[in-house]
Amino acid sequence: MSDVVYPNHLGIIMDGNGRWAKERGLNRSLGHKAGADNLIKLLDYIYNNTSIKVVSLYAFSTENFKREKCEVDYLMKLFVTLFNTKLESIKKNNVKVVFSGRRDNLPKSVLEAMDKTTDDTKNNIKGILNICLNYGGDYEIVDMTKKIVRQVLDGSLSIEDITKEVVSKNLYQDLPPLDFVIRTSGEKRISNFMIYQSSYAEYDFPDTYFPDFDSKCLEESLDNYRKRDRRFGNAK
Ligand code: IPE
Ligand code: IPE
Ligand code: MG
Repeated sequence: MSDVVYPNHLGIIMDGNGRWAKERGLNRSLGHKAGADNLIKLLDYIYNNTSIKVVSLYAFSTENFKREKCEVDYLMKLFVTLFNTKLESIKKNNVKVVFSGRRDNLPKSVLEAMDKTTDDTKNNIKGILNICLNYGGDYEIVDMTKKIVRQVLDGSLSIEDITKEVVSKNLYQDLPPLDFVIRTSGEKRISNFMIYQSSYAEYDFPDTYFPDFDSKCLEESLDNYRKRDRRFGNAK
């Protein structure tokens, strides 16, 4: 593991659950369930077999509330089960779970499961799992701006002291920049995912739907990452 280069911060846009189900003649909800089952296996693999420290997952976008009520309701119930029971191995693995996104519009049951998970894992130090739920990259920038303006207005921060570090500290979570973002299902867009943190990220867009994206697929994507020449503006 040590002589292989892994991204420090990996983002996963877990897409394709609906199409996975449709291809099997199943309801979209069963695609989300299959995606959640796959996620647990993938996270166990990541935290046990790689040196990736931070994983950011796109679980539900602010735009996903436009979907039919029955699909949204199913997803909310799935999140409660996921956080209360299925993330047990993550908690035991010494991984700290944090959330990014707006709390408004989320059911109380989801908020309670999120708060319990945050509290249960707050002292864990092996890795960080950042779950983006009711998340929009544009809203994150709006909310960060409001927090900073409030500090300027109450006199605790002067305009001259606003730096990149201050911006980062006022985002939903203060995380290192994303090194690599994988979006499954073949769509080649980022759909409002961590737009500030991904300013220098590498991307991979495998065709596989998320429920089928196993550790072998992940390793293929990581091989693509290793072939990239990350220049960060330097001349070569
Ligand atoms: C991703 O799968 C899961 C969420 C957005 C919650 P989709 O539900 O978007 O699956 P497709 O894109 O319709 O196949
Ligand atoms: C992005 O996927 C959000 C998540 C994976 C949670 P979508 O399926 O919602 O994105 P679009 O609609 O294809 O852009
Ligand atoms: Mg989709």
